[in-house]
Amino acid sequence: MLSLSHILESQLRAAMQRAFPAVEAELNPQLVPASKPEFGDFQANGALPLAKPLKQPPRQIATAIVEQLLKDPTFTDLCLEPEIAGPGFINLTLRPERLAMEVASRLADERLGVPAVQAASPVVVDFSSPNIAKEMHVGHLRSTIIGDSLARVLEFRGHPVLRLNHVGDWGTQFGMLITHLKQVAPEALETADAVDLGDLVAFYREAKKRFDDDEVFQATSREEVVKLQGGDPVSLKAWGLLCDQSRREFQKIYDRLDIRLSERGESFYNPFLAAVIDGLQQKGLLVTDAGAECVFLEGVQGKDGKPLPVIVQKSDGGFNYATTDLAAIRYRFGSGPDGDAARRVVYVTDAGQANHFAGVFQVAERAGWIPDGSRLEHVPFGLVQGEDGKKLKTRSGDTVRLRDLLDEAVERAEADLRSRLAQEERSESEEFIHHVAGTVGLAAVKYADLSQNRITNYQFSFDRMLALQGNTAPYLLYAVVRIAGIARKGGDLDASTTQLQFTEPQEWALVRELLKFDAVIAEVEEELLPNRLCAYLFELSQVFNRFYDQVPVLKAEPEALPSRLALCRLTADTLKLGLGLLGITTLERM
Ligand code: ARG
Repeated sequence: MLSLSHILESQLRAAMQRAFPAVEAELNPQLVPASKPEFGDFQANGALPLAKPLKQPPRQIATAIVEQLLKDPTFTDLCLEPEIAGPGFINLTLRPERLAMEVASRLADERLGVPAVQAASPVVVDFSSPNIAKEMHVGHLRSTIIGDSLARVLEFRGHPVLRLNHVGDWGTQFGMLITHLKQVAPEALETADAVDLGDLVAFYREAKKRFDDDEVFQATSREEVVKLQGGDPVSLKAWGLLCDQSRREFQKIYDRLDIRLSERGESFYNPFLAAVIDGLQQKGLLVTDAGAECVFLEGVQGKDGKPLPVIVQKSDGGFNYATTDLAAIRYRFGSGPDGDAARRVVYVTDAGQANHFAGVFQVAERAGWIPDGSRLEHVPFGLVQGEDGKKLKTRSGDTVRLRDLLDEAVERAEADLRSRLAQEERSESEEFIHHVAGTVGLAAVKYADLSQNRITNYQFSFDRMLALQGNTAPYLLYAVVRIAGIARKGGDLDASTTQLQFTEPQEWALVRELLKFDAVIAEVEEELLPNRLCAYLFELSQVFNRFYDQVPVLKAEPEALPSRLALCRLTADTLKLGLGLLGITTLERM
């Protein structure tokens, strides 16, 4: 009801101006959603702060505002007569016929009342971003799921979104990887499929061990880095092979989770690193400290009380993670051929990188690389923990592989489904069982992650995420299935020809809940918190279930039936669209 609240706000402001033309200060209606349904839909608190300048009791001020409101026919069309409560709050209740009109207009609108942005500007969402030759871990899974959902919301609002996979495909570790590759698997340089990522992770470990133990190997690795950076063709070939191999493995996970990403790894920014140093030099921000080029941060001290540096060039001349991120910021905000012209750049990583981003953002800001009016945001999230509250591990103590984790979710969903079917004495095809289990298993993993406030650590529990009760994917998917069943039995109606009418309190509660959808989307777009959308969808399903359990729908009187079916349909549409924005597909039967 965002558009209605905007209209109300300007009506209130105008009424305040008419009532108190002499007030110099800006008149603010302070319109907020009503805290309880019995207070109506909105509450305007703007009379209270006027008591002092006007030297009048706030209730009297509220009365004067209401008097003016009632003279405005556009207001009386929209609302019932306002009530003044407490010290001078103005309670506003929308007219039932206006609410019914809103429901009808959403039913006819495939965007369900969520407007598309007028001035769309590019947004970069930097997410997933695993490191080459290392396995993607659960932290990357969180980034992938949260980042994808944020990208979907921003896209739905009409922003052009660049979904960037900032893979770690550059750095000194490639020296040892290439050296090891050349020595133990020279044949891999001829064929791309000689090693697979399972091996590549072990391969990384082997290389690292040799690097730590063997000085000759270490020296060769260092030379290899120089060769690679100098563009030596054989080194580049080996590097490309390692990247391809990882990429193929990552892609399998993305395909399973239905995630689209454009890879633009750290190596992409190599040509722009030197300019970062020059730029910082020109701005007078660079300080040489023990041979390294640094920018000292303002307001950030280390334990010794001295300002902390962001190192942008090491004493050996090499650049690092922060330098690459500075180059990436310039590129993303930049215009022209070497730029994305973004106006909002969002990074989805674990909270452990908060200091890195705070430092880099400060340097970029002081260098003048963040255009006015644009936003640069770190979207941090907590750790994934096991049910014991410790770092998620397999029984044998190894790190959990993503594909095993997804497999297990689907297997468990399948076992749950088979036992439910047996209980209900239903027989379904194997195809149905696989489709449902596949959808529910992945939905459960995604939803469990998204429904948590991302800032907090999150305890991974298959039992909890797959439960049919509670704030879970199966509960929401089941609500959609329930409504699909109602539609099959009630016949799908053409809402455009129906005059909607509601009488029962459960109907009104559902109407009001449905009409919050646009405000929730606006909030997620602003605050980048998908758990707000989850909480809303869960609440909506609960309000719907209460309505459906307490008010006859299929057995309703003929005059009430179309309006009730319309509510069912709008609920299903809202759940489907909302879950879709979380990257979750729904089912018609389960
Ligand atoms: N590769 C990094 C990691 O695995 C994440 C990169 C995030 N994006 C960025 N622009 N720094 O932790």
